[in-house]
Amino acid sequence: MLDSKGFDLWADNYDISVEISDDDGAYPFAGYKKVLNYIFGEIMAGSGKTLLDIGFGTGILTKRLYDKGFAIYGQDFSGEMLNIAKDKMPEAKLFQGDFTLGLVSELKQRQYDAIIATYSLHHIVDEEKPAFIKELMQLLNEHGKIYIGDVAFSTRKEMEKCKETYQEEWDDEEHYFVVEELKGNFPSLSFIPFSHCAGVIVLEHG
Ligand SMILES: C[S@@+](CC[C@H](N)C(=O)[O-])C[C@H]1O[C@@H](n2cnc3c(N)ncnc32)[C@H](O)[C@@H]1O
Repeated sequence: MLDSKGFDLWADNYDISVEISDDDGAYPFAGYKKVLNYIFGEIMAGSGKTLLDIGFGTGILTKRLYDKGFAIYGQDFSGEMLNIAKDKMPEAKLFQGDFTLGLVSELKQRQYDAIIATYSLHHIVDEEKPAFIKELMQLLNEHGKIYIGDVAFSTRKEMEKCKETYQEEWDDEEHYFVVEELKGNFPSLSFIPFSHCAGVIVLEHG
């Protein structure tokens, strides 16, 4: 699994590399643009204007919402990713910090209309995901929603099938979402698949 230095090194060619992987239709980024487009559309259709992005990277999605007038807040542990995102969104409130240690205090001072995390929360081990997601839920406004777009599977069986197909490329150090298991903690979540290995998990306030 990449640490913050690994993401620093990836930052400059991140945008092009995810695009190529998505266009190839291959794990892990097959469906990447559809995932981001879906979240963009859902957030634009809502009435809120304040957004928190967990693991914003180069800001591919958040920049689009920034340009539409959203107030953007975010946390990422890579200084290089942060520099690139900050250049694109000078007014955004972006903080450096490891989310496996929780959110930085500045981000816990307010409520958000939407919280997004795309291709980032698979860096949290499965046992710790529910507690972190519950922490995020506390920060939602009354009608707010969390959108997790990531490598994700409806069942563990589907994930095992993907792992079998991509033996060489499979990253055993990442912890992908298995929706049937996450539902044990969040029975009302919804899941919209966009490729054989990716989809969007939506959780509502309360
Ligand atoms: C694959 S990139 C996704 C970036 C962006 N959200 C996107 O959809 O293109 C993962 C991002 O999460 C960040 N990240 C990974 N683990 C993290 C951690 N433990 N704490 C904070 N940020 C982390 C990385 O620095 C990187 O910017």
